Parts: sequence; structure tokens; C-alpha cells
Amino acid sequence: MTEKILAQVTSIGRYLPDYVLTNKELEKLVETNDEWITSRTGIKERRILKDPDKATSFMAAEAAKEILKNRGIDGSEIDAIIVATVTPDYFFPAVACLVQREIGATNAFGYDISAACSGFVFALSTGAQMIESGRYKKVLVIGADKMSSIIDYTDRTTCILFGDGAAGVLLEPTTDGNGIVDFIQHCDGSGADYLIMHGGGSKNPSSYKTIDDKLHYITQDGKSVFKRATEGMADVSAEIMKKNNLTADDVAWLVPHQANLRIIDATARRMGIGTDKVMINIERYGNTTAATIPLCLYDWKNQLSKGDNLVLAAFGGGFTWGALYMKWGM
Ligand SMILES: CC(C)(COP(=O)(O)OP(=O)(O)OC[C@H]1O[C@@H](n2cnc3c(N)ncnc32)[C@H](O)[C@@H]1OP(=O)(O)O)[C@@H](O)C(=O)NCCC(=O)NCCS
Repeated sequence: MTEKILAQVTSIGRYLPDYVLTNKELEKLVETNDEWITSRTGIKERRILKDPDKATSFMAAEAAKEILKNRGIDGSEIDAIIVATVTPDYFFPAVACLVQREIGATNAFGYDISAACSGFVFALSTGAQMIESGRYKKVLVIGADKMSSIIDYTDRTTCILFGDGAAGVLLEPTTDGNGIVDFIQHCDGSGADYLIMHGGGSKNPSSYKTIDDKLHYITQDGKSVFKRATEGMADVSAEIMKKNNLTADDVAWLVPHQANLRIIDATARRMGIGTDKVMINIERYGNTTAATIPLCLYDWKNQLSKGDNLVLAAFGGGFTWGALYMKWGM
């Protein structure tokens, strides 16, 4: 009997812009205050990519370069590049192609995945299946978003939430049992209107009117999204634990999407795990959409041990949501 091939994370990298947008600075832009933002969301500051010549692919490529450097390999060894993003540089070509060019991944193909805040989990499961099939040996999976490019900084209900950043991992095959074990994924398009950018697509192509009507910015029904996100992330996290016979004690870390500290707390409570086992960096980066989960893995990488059970969980626009169970392999 052949041993089962799993996809293991063998390297990790990130890019964060230098500019720090604090709650104090937001107080000057909109009618808000540090106390409100902190108590309602957990966010204190976020990073913003200020350079107008740089976009999502720049951040994704910088993260990819660190991944390659940490693994000690050349871009030409990469087989595939998957980038999760809702803020691509262009509709096409894909960010993955721009990353491929920048890192000299001359033997790779690539494409982007659009699943909003669930993008990294969906991309990771896609990459894992490429590896498990035996067809590919080195797959880069990156979550990257320049959210500041689609935020209206006069709308206090959204501008306080989001930040820019990129992070990702290299997936390689292993037969030692440590790797991506399972995942559960969902979408529900009946939630499409609750979190959406209306303009710029084929429904509302860019025009003076779409600009005047502010259709190129995120709009959100915060309360509805909050309710669905809290239920969705908690349910799917509990579901993946049950499916894999994991008790709270078995879980070393919950790695949740960082949208709102209260959503994260509700998920941890439902899983029965203490906050000491939850990766939380929302106070420093806000919601970087597809980048939140790999940014957490990056920040906690020195505290992870081989064989640790991690549950990744996300909820986002679409609606999309999912959880992924992996045994850490590094
Ligand atoms: C956006 C969010 C933080 C708002 O928190 P909330 O507790 O639901 O607050 P509400 O929307 O009910 O607003 C409460 C009041 O605060 C006000 N308010 C909204 N934003 C504010 C801000 N930045 N500063 C101060 N007051 C604000 C509202 O206008 C409202 O005032 P009113 O009662 O006079 O009408 C919360 O709904 C949320 O996190 N939703 C999910 C967002 C998310 O995760 N999106 C990403 C996809 S995963």
C-alpha cells in the first residue's frame, strides 16, 4: 500500500507596508474614536501601502521572495502559484502571473482566487489537492490585498476595519502524516449584497457615474455580516473538529480570519478553547482580507512545533466560509 501524500507547509513569508494608520489618525478623517474602534473591533492600527506605484502584486511578490529565501530555493523550482485576492492590480492578468514574472518562476503556472476573506483557506485547499494528486511538488499559496485601494476614507463604518498586507506559504509533499488533513468550505450567494463592491465589473463598468456614486468602494451591512460571520466561522470550526475527532485539548492553535475580535472570541468559545490558544494580531494589522491567516502563521511560526494541530477558519464576502485542519510540519 502506498503512503498517503499530504501537502505540508515548508516555508512562510510576508510583506507589510511601513505606513501605520492608527485609530488616532482615523479620528481626524471621520467621526470616530479610538475607544469605539477598539471595543467594537479590537483594532488599534493597520498598515497602508502608500506608494501609488505599488499594488497587490508588489506585496505578494515580496512575500514570495521571503518564502523562497527561507526555503533556500530558486523561483524556477516552483510549479504553481495561487494568489487569493479581491484587490488584484488588474482584472487581468492575474496577480499570480505578475508574481511569477517578478520571482522568475519560469516553470510555474498560476492564477488568482476570488473568495474575499475566505480566499486564503480556499487557495490553501486548492494547493493542497495539487500536491496530494502527486502532479506538483512545489506550490506557492499567497494571500494579498491592498484594501486601501477600495476603501472610502469618508465612510466610518468600513474605513476603520481594513489594512494592506500579504503573506503566504510554500506547500510540498510529505508522507510523514504532518500536513493539510482536511477542509470544509461553503458559499452562499444569497449574502452577496451584504458585502460588495458594486463598481468596475461587467455589471457596472467604470464611468463618471460609477465614480460619482462611489461604487468603486466596499459597501457593507455590518450588522448582518457580523451575525452571519459569527455563526459561520463558529459552526464550521466546530464541524471540522467533530469530523476529525478533535477535542479542544487536541487543538494547539485556532488560526482565525481577523475581521473582528468579537467574531474570533465567539469561534473560540464554540470550539471550547481558551484565548491563549488563539492567534490574534488584529490590533496591529486590522482586516487584511486574504492575508490575515498567513500573517498570523508568520507571527506565530516560532511558537509552532511539528505535529501541532491547527484549525484555520475564515468567513468573508460572497458569503464564503470554511475551515481547514492541518498538522504543522516544520
Ligand atoms: C462594522 C462593525 C464593527 C460595527 O459594529 P456594530 O457594533 O455592529 O455597530 P453598528 O453598525 O450597530 O453601529 C452602532 C453605532 O455606531 C456607529 N458607528 C459605526 N461606525 C462607527 C465608527 N467607526 N465610530 C463611531 N461610531 C460608529 C453607527 O453609526 C451606529 O450609530 P447609531 O446607533 O447612532 O446608528 C461590526 O458590525 C462588524 O464588525 N461587522 C462585521 C464586519 C466584517 O467582519 N467584515 C468583513 C468580512 S468578514
